[in-house]
Formats: sequence, structure tokens, C-alpha cells
Amino acid sequence: MNILSVASEVFPLIKTGGLADVAGALPLALAGHGTRMRTLVPGYPAVMAKLADVTVAATFDDLLGEPARVLSATHAGLDILVLDAPGFFDRPGGPYVDAVGKDFTDNWRRFAALSLAGAEIARGLIADWTPDIVHAHDWQAAMTAVYMRYTGLQHIPTVVTVHNLAFQGQFGADIFAELRLPAEAYSVDGLEYYGDVGFLKGGLRTAWAVTTVSPTYAAEIMTPQYGMGLDGLVNARAGDLTGIVNGIDTDVWNPGTDRLIAKTFTATTLKQRAANRKALADRFGLDHDDGPIFCVISRLTWQKGIDLIAEVADWIVEEGGKLAVLGSGDEGLEGALLSAAARHRGRMGIVIGYDEPLSHLMQAGSDAILIPSRFEPCGLTQLYGLRYGCVPIVARTGGLADTVIDANEAALSAGVATGFQFTPIDAAGLRQAIRRALAAWHRPGTWTRLQSQGMKSDVSWEKSAKLYADLYSSLLSKA
Ligand code: ADP
Ligand code: GLC
Repeated sequence: MNILSVASEVFPLIKTGGLADVAGALPLALAGHGTRMRTLVPGYPAVMAKLADVTVAATFDDLLGEPARVLSATHAGLDILVLDAPGFFDRPGGPYVDAVGKDFTDNWRRFAALSLAGAEIARGLIADWTPDIVHAHDWQAAMTAVYMRYTGLQHIPTVVTVHNLAFQGQFGADIFAELRLPAEAYSVDGLEYYGDVGFLKGGLRTAWAVTTVSPTYAAEIMTPQYGMGLDGLVNARAGDLTGIVNGIDTDVWNPGTDRLIAKTFTATTLKQRAANRKALADRFGLDHDDGPIFCVISRLTWQKGIDLIAEVADWIVEEGGKLAVLGSGDEGLEGALLSAAARHRGRMGIVIGYDEPLSHLMQAGSDAILIPSRFEPCGLTQLYGLRYGCVPIVARTGGLADTVIDANEAALSAGVATGFQFTPIDAAGLRQAIRRALAAWHRPGTWTRLQSQGMKSDVSWEKSAKLYADLYSSLLSKA
């Protein structure tokens, strides 16, 4: 089975968040299921710089106004198709924002172009390879399903995966004329969204199947509270919606072999974590006493509940805990955390920025990871935490609810607990969960059991890859 995956980021070529990890791991996980997945990704400078031995698979004279090529390459075991369109992608900044962090004003055209290229590959643009199924991720690729639906490719099954319903790709109606779609595509059955053009909305409307990245989030987005204005449409598509929890790449994230940490360890050599704890304390300027180290590795945003971290920081320190924070995002939140760290030298450290190697050391050296997200489609850092004996303390929402087993009395005595969940998602809830964690931490047997139980959790892609493979097969049987 040939599958074209269309994504705006893919690890290890380009990553701003969990989408990249998923887009990078899924093709490898699916390989055992008789599939060949090729991934179409934009030719940002970072991507172009990493690729060697590319061949030109196709060219466009005019892809929504720019000349473009599709290049084929392999990288880290992935079969990559790069949309090399310098007019759209060869510029400083990140995938979506310029050097000062502002959204590119032509993002609609850049990602419509990515999607249109995906649709053309489905039509047979590349010699010798056409996909049986097209799988598009998030708003940046969702238009692939729309182009396919309205340009005569509706017989090819499409899947749109929602990694985060908060990002929808909504633009003024004036852009519609430039998308080169037939007029009928601007309707409630297509792109029209409250008088605007909605890329994700169009994808959700036109895809054969819709998935999201955990069963709980799939249920949540049917409600007004989590539906972000799209809950009506999500309900209308309920019969075609599944929630499939993400796995992680257990080779990249393996504490037994990880070269990015100070000392490797396994569930039976947890004592070796001490060397990572020490290296971590040094990196963050933390005292070397025994107090538990809580870490945060996150985009610093309201979604991630980072204001709650700022609110409880003083209290964590009063209780004898230490805090190590890695992330970047909202200036106000960065400022609040920086001033908390300044108040608590030796007890709280913060690194503003994005640092993949440091994130490994933090999982290997911290005692617990705090994830107080207000909503979380899946979340990956709790999965890394489980795998590294870094006990997750999480808000009970989305994928966090599906992947962490709360250490209540029943779960503790059954020996199945792996972390702490809390609700309501506010400072008091978070404080209460940390209080429970501190109590468990003071009982070393209990804490070690939590760690080793977490390390036994199946966080691999195995089960979920099978669910995707089954979904693809069922769509193909209807094609
Ligand atoms: P989201 O995609 O919503 O940001 P996820 O938990 O799915 O949340 O994925 C976030 C990914 O980005 C994880 O792999 C996490 O380790 C990584 N990450 C987030 N912030 C940083 C950072 N500042 N430095 C390094 N890695 C980070
Ligand atoms: C999004 C979500 C996150 C999820 C990731 C990968 O960024 O915010 O919860 O883990 O996508 O699916």
C-alpha cells in the first residue's frame, strides 16, 4: 500500500512541536504493515541543508504563482519528497514565522501550495509512484483533501489528522480566488467558514476519514468547550472520526542507549539516574541537595498551563522542591518564570529557547515532569517521562488522561500507577497533585515502583501503527 503523508514538519529534518515527531515516526512504525509511506514536506532552508543525494521527481512551472520542484531523497530511514519552492520556503525564520516571530502574511499561499502539490502527486505527478491513500496533517496540509475533492480525485481515500484544533488556518474570503479551486469549493460543504476560508475546516469536511491523536481528545472536540467553533462539524463527522494515541520513537528516546544524557540507565539501574540529576542541576544552577527536581519542557503558552507553573513556583520551592524549566513562547509567561527563577537562585533554573539535547537530559535527570495543559490533544513529553523514569504529573485532559495512570490508592495497590493526574485544571489542582507526588516521593519504595511501572508502559508506536494500518485498509476496501 502506497501512502502519501503531507506535513509541514517532520523530525529529524524540521521540528517545532509534537507534529514533527509523529510525522517522523509513523512512516517507520507502519513499515512492518506492508505500507510504503512517503512524506511531502516544504523545502525550508533547514530541510534543504540536511538532504544529500536528491533527485528531481517533478517540476511545476507555476504552483500558485511560483516555480517549484518536487525532490526525492531519503533521510534517517524516511522516504522524503521535498517541495522545493524558494519563493515560498527559502527565507529566514521558522516554518511559520519570520525572524521576529510574526506569522508570514502569505502562509495561506505557502501551505495551499504544499497541499496542492500533494494533490498533484496523488494525480500521478511523479513517474512510477502514485499513492493509494493520502494522509494530511493539521491545517497546513488539510487543503490536500480539499484540492482532491474538487479537482476530480475524490475516488482516492484521504485522511486528515488533527493534532491541535486550536490552529485552524482561517483566512479572509478574498484569498479564495487565488486558490485556483472551482467556485463550488467555497460552500458550507467545502472551505467556507463563518464567511472566511477555513483550511482545517475544509479538510475536516472533505476528508474520507478524520483522526485525532487520542481517544479522549476525540470525545472532547465534540463539545463546545474544546471544539473551538468546529464542534458542530466534528459531530457531523463523528462516524468517520477516530482517536489514535501517539507513540514515540523508542530508539531515539531510549534511556538505555541515549547519547544525549550523562549516564544511561534502565528500570533495573535507576540509581544511575543520579549522574543525570547532577548534570541537570549543574546546567540549571540548582543546589545539589536531595530535594525533588520538577521539570517543564514546553511551549510557554496558555494552552500548556504555564501561567499555573508560574503561580505555584514559590510554593514548590517552599515545600523543598526544585524547578527546571526549558521552553519559549509568550513574553509575559517567560517574564513571570524568569523573575521566579531570579527570586529562587539554586532552587529554580530556566533556559529560554529550544534545545533538543537538553530536553533528553531533563527527562533523564528530573524526578517528575509537570504538564498542566488546559487541553492536550496527545502530548509527548509525558510519554518521554514515562520511558525515562521521570514521573508525569498531568492535567486530566486529552492524551494526558489516556496515557498516565493516576497513583490513587487502588492503582498503587494494584501496582499499575505511573503518575499523577489532576482536575480541575487550575493552580489549586496542580498544587494538590504535586502535594500527592511529594508524599509519594518521601516513600522511596513507592516512588521507585512508580518509576519502574512507568518505564514498563507501552509508549511505542506498535499498537497505534496497527490502528492506522487498519484504518487505511478499511478505507481502501471502500475505494
Ligand atoms: P506540542 O506539539 O503541542 O508543543 P507535544 O508534547 O506533542 O506538544 O510535543 C512537544 C515536543 O517538543 C516534544 O518532543 C518536546 O520534547 C519538544 N519540546 C517542546 N519545547 C521544547 C524546548 N524548548 N526544547 C526542546 N524540546 C522541546
Ligand atoms: C500537537 C498537540 C500535541 C500532540 C502533537 C502531536 O502539537 O498540541 O498534544 O502531541 O500535536 O500529535
